Amino acid sequence: MIIASNFKTNHTRQSTRIYMERVRQFAQETKSAQDILVFPPATALDTYTLPENIRVGVQNAYPVEKGSFTGEIGLEQIEEFGLRTILVGHSERRHILGESQELCAQKYDYFKAKGFEIVYCIGEPEEVRKAGIDAVLTYNLEQLEGIDLGYEKLIVAYEPVWAIGTGLSASVEQIDETLTKLRETIKAPLLYGGSVKPATTKEILEIENCDGVLVGTASWDVDNFCQMIEIADTL
Ligand code: 13P
Repeated sequence: MIIASNFKTNHTRQSTRIYMERVRQFAQETKSAQDILVFPPATALDTYTLPENIRVGVQNAYPVEKGSFTGEIGLEQIEEFGLRTILVGHSERRHILGESQELCAQKYDYFKAKGFEIVYCIGEPEEVRKAGIDAVLTYNLEQLEGIDLGYEKLIVAYEPVWAIGTGLSASVEQIDETLTKLRETIKAPLLYGGSVKPATTKEILEIENCDGVLVGTASWDVDNFCQMIEIADTL
């Protein structure tokens, strides 16, 4: 399974180093077989010596090698550290920072062409969820417009906006129903994200079409994150 942590705008370079070392040690001691992904903020990108199943990725980058894009990083800044994993289309980038579907697709195409592992995020806002499952499906599928779903290094994260950072996870039934419908279109691994906690990890990972979790808030504490890895190991 894939157990992923999105630090968002949390942790420093120093605390990320301590965090990664803890995760590395924990996975080694427990001989964890999980795919563990961690997305620290851009200021903490660095060269990390890790086994193949633990990977550090970037939360965002501009689809360019280098250039004049103030505040952004490009391929050159990522490659300095040999990083090969990227998050694209997170709802905070779409809804807070105004990233369009067109830009998400451009980023996807660019980093696909560079052979990156891409965690591509989709998810509906609350008013769409309230409109019912058909509206949810239509909305999520629209967020796949321009995305090559046949890319072998694609992972899709279903993260309903109303469940992110709210402490209110989607229910097992809602996740199950949505992932089952998405599975008809998406063959890539499917993650769920949105207020996942150690206490809810098992029931979510047991959902048939769920291949892992993408965790924000709860995972910023390394003990919680290790606990989630351990839970995945027991399944
Ligand atoms: P929370 O776990 O804080 O709800 O965040 C989920 C998320 O957005 C992961 O990308």
